[in-house]
Amino acid sequence: MATHRVVLIPGDGIGPEVTAAVTRIMEAACAPIQWVERRAGLAALEGGQDVLPQETLDAITQHKVALKGPCTTPVGKGFASINVQLRKRLNLYAAVRPVRNLAGVPTRFTGVDLVVVRENTEGLYSGIESEVTAGVVTSLKVATKTACERIARWAFAYASRRGRREVTELIIDAGCMRLVQDPARFDVLLMENLYGDVVSDLCAGMVGGLGIVPGANIGDDGAIFEAVHGSAPDIAGQGIANPLALLMSGVMMLNHLADTRGDAACRRVAQRIKEAYNRALADGKKTRDLGGDLSTDVFAQAVIERLPA
Ligand code: NAI
Repeated sequence: MATHRVVLIPGDGIGPEVTAAVTRIMEAACAPIQWVERRAGLAALEGGQDVLPQETLDAITQHKVALKGPCTTPVGKGFASINVQLRKRLNLYAAVRPVRNLAGVPTRFTGVDLVVVRENTEGLYSGIESEVTAGVVTSLKVATKTACERIARWAFAYASRRGRREVTELIIDAGCMRLVQDPARFDVLLMENLYGDVVSDLCAGMVGGLGIVPGANIGDDGAIFEAVHGSAPDIAGQGIANPLALLMSGVMMLNHLADTRGDAACRRVAQRIKEAYNRALADGKKTRDLGGDLSTDVFAQAVIERLPA
């Protein structure tokens, strides 16, 4: 079986804990992946490297696919977000975040099955900021025709490829109201950068929280798969983080490898992992954020035990 070399960035905070759980599950499922581990974020800084080391960028450029844990951006020390930099430097212009209700995770809303497609390179994340006079800071919200058209075309192509039924481009305030009134009526949400960021967390809350929402950052020449959540410093080091969001991102990654490299084995492994975590949740195996009491490792073991033959 061919193996794919994929860059693995454990990241910071809960990042190393959830990536260890995910690589363990992937190995148990015989995913045809060879990890190439690289650092970014605080882990890189503490190892004497730049927050976003060139060797990490080079590895992603070379292997084209990465699975990434969340990275902490040091606040108030002049660092631009590592995550934003990565997306921009590699031109990963489309963020894709599927949000759906899961059996075994009861929430206020039912029937939610939507995908946030977020423009990932401009808006208020362009980093064009200045202090025009003492106490007055401005930040430019950039919208180029090129990037707007590119993300819109991408979203429609994605929707048709995946057999989705509708792409929504509503005014954001009305869109938010309708989302909380009836999220089940939405399918693909096409959003500019900041709105997409905010709305993905909002939608995560509708289905059980950040522990179960995966994501992908996709460009023409590469893709980075990562959970929507951050490094969760409040629970880091306790072994209680939910690895599911990163695991689901790993499943998206396997499907991406199947699509782009024609490797049917990746699709089969993705399907087996998905069945295993769906079974685990349906059996009540959950971490604390979902109302259960399992640790990261025990949940990972529960998934492994449910992998179909
Ligand atoms: P966060 O997503 O790390 O945490 C928000 C809340 O959700 C916390 O209460 C946390 O405990 C909980 N949570 C998040 N993931 C969880 C999981 N897997 N299992 C259980 N609970 C989970 O957001 P926050 O606190 O705003 O950011 C913390 C750091 O993460 C910051 O340095 C930020 O820059 C970074 N960050 C990195 C991202 C990335 O690498 N893509 C994305 C978002 C934030």
